[in-house]
Amino acid sequence: MIKIPRGTQDILPGETKKWRYIENKLHELMKLYNYKEIRTPMFESTDLFARGVGDSTDVVQKEMYTFEDKGQRSMTLRPEGTAAVVRSYIENKMHGDPNQPVKLYYNGPMFRYERKQKGRYRQFTQFGVEAIGAENPSIDAEVLAMVMHIYESFGLKHLKLVINSIGDIDSRKAYNDALVDHFEPVIHEFCDDCQARLHTNPMRILDCKVDRNHEAVQNAPSITEYLNDASQQYYEEVKSHLDDLGIPYVEDPHLVRGLDYYTHTAFELMIDDPNYDGAITTLCGGGRYNGLLELLDGPSETGIGFALSIERLLMALEEEGIELDVEEDFDLFVVTTGEEADRYAVKLLNQLRHEGISADKDYMSRKMKGQMKQADRLNARYTIVIGDRELESKQIDIKNMDTGESDTVQLDEIADYLKAHK
Ligand code: HAM
Repeated sequence: MIKIPRGTQDILPGETKKWRYIENKLHELMKLYNYKEIRTPMFESTDLFARGVGDSTDVVQKEMYTFEDKGQRSMTLRPEGTAAVVRSYIENKMHGDPNQPVKLYYNGPMFRYERKQKGRYRQFTQFGVEAIGAENPSIDAEVLAMVMHIYESFGLKHLKLVINSIGDIDSRKAYNDALVDHFEPVIHEFCDDCQARLHTNPMRILDCKVDRNHEAVQNAPSITEYLNDASQQYYEEVKSHLDDLGIPYVEDPHLVRGLDYYTHTAFELMIDDPNYDGAITTLCGGGRYNGLLELLDGPSETGIGFALSIERLLMALEEEGIELDVEEDFDLFVVTTGEEADRYAVKLLNQLRHEGISADKDYMSRKMKGQMKQADRLNARYTIVIGDRELESKQIDIKNMDTGESDTVQLDEIADYLKAHK
């Protein structure tokens, strides 16, 4: 038997309604912040991610689904959304739009060949935003406020916002030099990846999944000491906006994120529940990327954004025992007795559905009792039973399944009755 690929999932009807509920809410929230939806392709040139996300990241080195297409071009299923949105901003000359920053959001599948575990998939759905074209601490604060607003609007409470500043390119360079000095004497104790990255990208060592508990990682120098004045000031302003907004946060000077494009503000939202026993605690992550546009041959604009996965949002909801209000109303189940009645029901259903009434009937030649049971299972608000008598009199009893009470109406007035009793 052919099975579903590892790390992917079928989202079955009972679950899709939760997804639709969440996605609808996210679309609504985006209107409040004036962000507009963008849809980019599911695959891009491999170069986009190699350059944008960074050659020496785990994502690019180990996790990409890369293939050669029939024209011998190297393509990659997108592992994240930022590089593609930035590519699109540049390619579509959005920097020419007088409305800067351009505020964009996206929602769609991403692909990473990762080890499967609870909260970690090989295909997952990222909802993300990117505000491109402004370097201003207030937009950083807006993005952070939006992250909190999103999670709180689903009723989540056990949340911890962790922030850091990676500084500008100069600060990052000074910090990288300090990390090389720090790790060089002990690098032989580290994994092969860390050894290879010592001189190309030492910050990655702080983010290594294998060596994260090594003493030298724990007592590595902190970026805070290497921020130049401009970077320090930017960071202070972001924090003072967060204070104004009453958004609590924790600072972690070792938070460097797993992708290379970050400068200045970097953040993650974590599950903060002492009883939580899962390995994955990060719900969402993001930050500012000041050099990314130029790295992708674009203008010298800057951006900031974040992404969350719906899978982890659902995981957090489950963890806190939050039930989403996803009950869907079903208006009418039509029970039929006899061939004539069933023929009539086909026409009636067609008419009702065109009038916006959700309705269904039996297709399995069930006996009346079986049809009634099905009406119950479907949670239908009303049922009718059509037989020869009803066809002749053109009148029907319509039964409210909650109260058990019935009204008699004309057959051709069912739609009006149901609309009046929504
Ligand atoms: P990221 O931290 O790689 O950042 O991913 C962001 C979020 O995507 C994670 O916090 C998590 O919710 C979700 N995620 C990542 N990998 C998986 C997985 N294998 N299974 C389930 N969920 C996953 C980015 O992707 C950046 N593009 C975010 C960003 C936007 N930065 C600036 N703008």
